[in-house]
Order: sequence, then C-alpha cells, then structure tokens
Amino acid sequence: MARLRLAVLVSGRGSNLESLLRASREGRMDADVVLVVSNKADAPALDVAAKAGVRALVLPSAGLARDAHEASVAAALREAAPDIVCLAGYMRILSPGFIRAFEGRLLNVHPSLLPAFPGVDAQAQAHAAGVRVAGCTVHFVTEQVDAGPILAQAAVALPPGCSADEARARILEAEHALYPRAVHLLAAGDARWDAGAVRWRAGLRAPEGVLLSP
Ligand code: GRF
Repeated sequence: MARLRLAVLVSGRGSNLESLLRASREGRMDADVVLVVSNKADAPALDVAAKAGVRALVLPSAGLARDAHEASVAAALREAAPDIVCLAGYMRILSPGFIRAFEGRLLNVHPSLLPAFPGVDAQAQAHAAGVRVAGCTVHFVTEQVDAGPILAQAAVALPPGCSADEARARILEAEHALYPRAVHLLAAGDARWDAGAVRWRAGLRAPEGVLLSP
C-alpha cells in the first residue's frame, strides 16, 4: 500500500508530533507528515516541525470567529491533501461542519482509557479517582467530544503512591508509542473507518496481553 499522507494539528508542546515524525523516519509507521498546522504562533510544536523540515503553517484562532478560523484550516488541509488529519494536543473543539468535512479521516489522541475520563486534564481525573490502570486512546473524531470510534488503546499502571505528575509522564510515554502504531494500522490496511465504525481486517491477530496492577 502507498504511504499515508498526514496533516497534524497542534497548539502546544508537540511531543506527539515528534513521536509521529520519529516513527515515520524509523520505518515504524508507513506514513509521512506533510503539513503541520498550529493555531498558536508560539507553539513549541512549530520548532519540532522546523527541525524535521516539515512544512508548518500558523493559522491563529485568537480573535477570529470559529467559522472563519476553521475555513482557513480546511483550505490549508484541502491544499495539502492528507489521507489522515491527526489532532495532537490541538486545543480547539471542532465544529460539526468541520468534522463532517473530514469524517473518517480525523484522529485524536486522548490521555485516558475512553470512555473513562473524557474532557480536560484526563490524567488528573484518573489520578484523583485512584485508578490503578490508566492509559490513552486513539480514536476517530466525531461530533461527540472524546467519544468517536476507538482505533487503539494503551494501558499503563499507576502504582500506589504514584503522583499526578508521574501519572501524566507515564500516560504521555504510552501516547508516544500508541499514536504511530494506530496510524500504522490504517496505513497497513489492518483497520479502516467504515460508516461510523472501525472495521478490522479479517483474520487480523493482535498480540494478547494480561494487565494486572499492582
Ligand atoms: C497530550 O497529552 C494529548 O493527549 C492531549 O494533549 C497533550 C498534547 O501533548 N490531547 P503534546 O503537545 O503532543 O506534547
């Protein structure tokens, strides 16, 4: 299969962008980042893109109506013609119209085992709830926030006594491993979007595991 073209939407640090770029470079993900779009001019993610030599655009959202901002993002995406648009720390709720326009091609990484702990600061929510197994989810984006069809999840143990910061770090490490793997599932044709659901290749055998914590 041909390599997938990815656009990545960012607002901040860019560590997930970095993990996608690294996986692409190292041959762990049959996909290439062709465009990075940030809604913040000072996002460190822009430096990540520059270091990798990837085209990056700043399309500021501040002071613009949602429709006007999304129209500029949609135009940039249409021009770059990505197969998949990855949200990676993109701190904007997308409108139903934008989501429909990119339906089946929009992915997000969320720092919890959805449907547990949707919304902001999922890691702090998980820590406060005292869960022993936390994790992250890569899912297709639909109009319901943090509720689209799940493509992949990774679990991490939160040992007793684990601080909120430690939980955050463990979950982030899992995100960095999971997001490229999830994209590769699509690139390899192991999974695909089909009318609002994730359809798996017949006969696909994923590694099985047992999770116990502590
Ligand atoms: C990640 O934890 C992601 O799950 C959440 O925002 C954070 C972005 O981090 N949506 P980074 O910008 O990729 O480093």
